Amino acid sequence: MNILILGGGGREHALAWAVKQNPKCDRLIVAPGNAGIAAIAECADIDVLDGAAVLALAVENAVDFVIVGPEAPLAAGVADALRAGGILTFGPSAAAARLEASKAFTKEVCDAAGAPTAGWARFADRDAALAHVRTTGAPIVVKADGLAAGKGVVVAMTLPEAEAAIEDMFGGSLGAAGAEVVIEEFMGGEEASLFVLSDGTEVLEIGTAQDHKRVGDGDTGPNTGGMGAYSPAPVLTDAVLKQAMDEIVRPTVAEMARRGTPFQGVLYAGLMIEKGRARLVEYNVRFGDPEAQVLMMRMGAQALDLMLACAEGRLAGARVNWAEDHALTVVMAAGGYPGSYRKGTEIRGLGDLPETSSEMVFHAGTVARDGKVMANGGRVLNATARGASLAEAQARAYGLVDRIDWPEGFCRRDIGWRAL
Ligand code: AMP
Ligand code: GLY
Repeated sequence: MNILILGGGGREHALAWAVKQNPKCDRLIVAPGNAGIAAIAECADIDVLDGAAVLALAVENAVDFVIVGPEAPLAAGVADALRAGGILTFGPSAAAARLEASKAFTKEVCDAAGAPTAGWARFADRDAALAHVRTTGAPIVVKADGLAAGKGVVVAMTLPEAEAAIEDMFGGSLGAAGAEVVIEEFMGGEEASLFVLSDGTEVLEIGTAQDHKRVGDGDTGPNTGGMGAYSPAPVLTDAVLKQAMDEIVRPTVAEMARRGTPFQGVLYAGLMIEKGRARLVEYNVRFGDPEAQVLMMRMGAQALDLMLACAEGRLAGARVNWAEDHALTVVMAAGGYPGSYRKGTEIRGLGDLPETSSEMVFHAGTVARDGKVMANGGRVLNATARGASLAEAQARAYGLVDRIDWPEGFCRRDIGWRAL
């Protein structure tokens, strides 16, 4: 079959790499893709937020199946446009993508489903929000309701920080995303992510992961989109997983179906685990980046069969064949990230690296120019490896990092520390 993947980051390189290993895949197109993806697939430079353009590309190329990588096209209704055009698509409708696109919506669904999550209140008015935090005090969490590319959450440890976040958001710092603000109770504990496929009614666990959000070793410095990840997450024991599935994920999927907006795609539940119980921090309606890199490395070619079963409503009989393995990915970023950084620096040494089912350098932000690979973003490469233990996966991933010649890049040296 001909397959189209939307997106151009490390997540989409990992998805393309797994899909390509499946003999069902004939042609593979990725839009827009990147330099690493171009080595294994055709890249098409279109606006992935434009449903009509994506549908036209799919029709022209006799595409049988579309996998949507990032949240923005989902929130923009691209999956709806494709399905309306008769194309089998992996990813939720715009209505179901509100589980990521609106924090207040997610909270309402959790309340209706009885899913444990932080106490919350929503505000469309600055003064009411300020009055609220002055009553509750800190720590407290201030969130822009809408999509804000990872910048919409402030965990305020003091009241002045909470007040400043409210002033900023209502002052327009995040545009329309901050027109409404959700204020949440602060939850303590350890965070981990649970990934499940849902075809609207059935759910299938496809793995757990933990990422490292801070830029510096020892979880210090500013927040980023994620500097590394590993799978599985030891904190998600069988007992915690069962509780999270029974109390959070299944009731959410049932509530979405009850509302007439069933969720089809991958549901990424960000969980906070404290005293052996999980509460929901947030949902995402797509694979994590860089979590997809470790999940794809562990799943390999079967990822395509599972995504197809999900899109075709056949999850009831599906299961994942797990090896007792671990995977870990280290993000290499451009110096200065997550602040301002340079683009266009050359990366050498990639051509000599192993590309196997247990060692891969996925490209997150690269572009090919005159036969050279150039950095083209903040997060640039994901050195990813698998092993019989997490320590082995970590050693292999850093072995890849150490063979990459890119003086302008950096990475954390301690990915996986919490589990090791
Ligand atoms: P989100 O974008 O909702 O995932 O939030 C980003 C990060 O903020 C999460 O990964 C958590 O580390 C933190 N966070 C969000 N909500 C809460 C909360 N209610 N209590 C504690 N930390 C939170
Ligand atoms: N790694 C976090 C995310 O994909 O949202």
